[in-house]
Amino acid sequence: MKLRIALTKGRLEKDTVGLLEKMGYDCSAVRDKGRRLILPVGDSIEVVLAKAADVITYVENGVCDLGVVGKDTIIEMNGKFFELVDLGFGKCRFALAGKKGDDFYDGTHVRTIATKYPNVARTFFEKKNMDVDIVKIEGSVELAPLLGLSHAIVDIVETGTTLKENGLEVFEYICPISARLIANMVSMKLRQEEIESLIAEIEKNIG
Ligand code: PRP
Repeated sequence: MKLRIALTKGRLEKDTVGLLEKMGYDCSAVRDKGRRLILPVGDSIEVVLAKAADVITYVENGVCDLGVVGKDTIIEMNGKFFELVDLGFGKCRFALAGKKGDDFYDGTHVRTIATKYPNVARTFFEKKNMDVDIVKIEGSVELAPLLGLSHAIVDIVETGTTLKENGLEVFEYICPISARLIANMVSMKLRQEEIESLIAEIEKNIG
């Protein structure tokens, strides 16, 4: 049976395909996928293309043996799986950001924070003993402070271009993020040799 890897669509997909090709796997089916979602990689791997949170769901539930997903989604979802390798790509940071020049910590009123990552935001402000209202936003979180919905955002910042082009700035960095290889706990036992040899190959080809 092929090892099934759930792969986060988009940015991480390209880097993962690059890594698999460097390792000698034929990724032509993924490169030429059209609208297909399950694709062969070489003879021994099958790749499943999914949204980040769903990568974790599929791995947790054992329908995929392995997954490639950002540390941001791992921290937010806090699931039951093994985190095996820091793949070193998909590097960015969690940050608290808002309108340029705003003094976020000025005053005593409860701040509203917009984010795609409510758990990350909650934990960050709990550590500061700060009471905040959190509003979940699904994408382009930068809009929230611009429209007056929130005082700030907790989001991922890669190049900083989105913030800059929208008159926003980082108030505080929270933690670094990169892509990780994760594994289903049962697959790790039942397919240990295959997974370990894949990890060894990966480690030879990263960084
Ligand atoms: C992410 C993030 C920022 C942007 C940061 O959004 O939420 O908006 O990338 O990148 P930058 O610092 O290089 O500008 P993504 O592109 O994933 O889209 P989304 O906001 O619609 O989820």
